[in-house]
Amino acid sequence: MNQDEMKKASAEAALEYVESGMIVGIGTGSTANHFIDLLAGIKGKIDATVASSIASEERLKSHGIPVMDLNSAGQLSLYVDGADESTKQLHLIKGGGGALTREKIVAGASEKFVCIADDSKLVDVLGKFPLPIEVIPMAQSLVARQIVALGGNPVLREGFTTDNGNIILDVHDLEIMNPVEVEGKINQWAGVVTVGIFAQRPADVLILAGESGVTTYK
Ligand code: 5RP
Repeated sequence: MNQDEMKKASAEAALEYVESGMIVGIGTGSTANHFIDLLAGIKGKIDATVASSIASEERLKSHGIPVMDLNSAGQLSLYVDGADESTKQLHLIKGGGGALTREKIVAGASEKFVCIADDSKLVDVLGKFPLPIEVIPMAQSLVARQIVALGGNPVLREGFTTDNGNIILDVHDLEIMNPVEVEGKINQWAGVVTVGIFAQRPADVLILAGESGVTTYK
């Protein structure tokens, strides 16, 4: 199995969490795209979805899957999304696709967050994958200086604007030993919209697909 087939296998395993009449929160990225494509096969089972990005919304609609606004949907039963890194504690780095803010909102509005990934995403300590931070453009230098003071190396994601009209700083060389604390700290900085650590609201279920099959962590 190649990496893309593993992503698809993890997405397939997440289908068992979809129950009749649910409004399902949908993540962003290539693994989430597999989930969207598979969800199309059982679209009659669910009431609607809430998308975490314009890209996912368009893909859902292209399959004829109804998409709702989160404010109309209220509390969601289920959120399914990929990740850039995960620990066995189900703390995540997300935002490689730049959709971290809406992803964190939809995850926060969901009772159960099922994270789907290939097993290359499993790490002991978060931070080898550059940590994305969504920042209000005028705060770029201010936030960058604070990242440097924390020991990280911020790199502007060139030519990229989030769905919310902001920039992304990708932070290299930051070993995140205490994800809950670091998430809270960075979130407090003026100009930071969202930091891509998902630890205060971690995943509830992690489905990892590898050569030897699918493993589920809870
Ligand atoms: C997008 C994300 C994605 O979940 C993350 O980047 C993983 O992407 P992929 O499924 O393509 O490996 O956080 O903002």
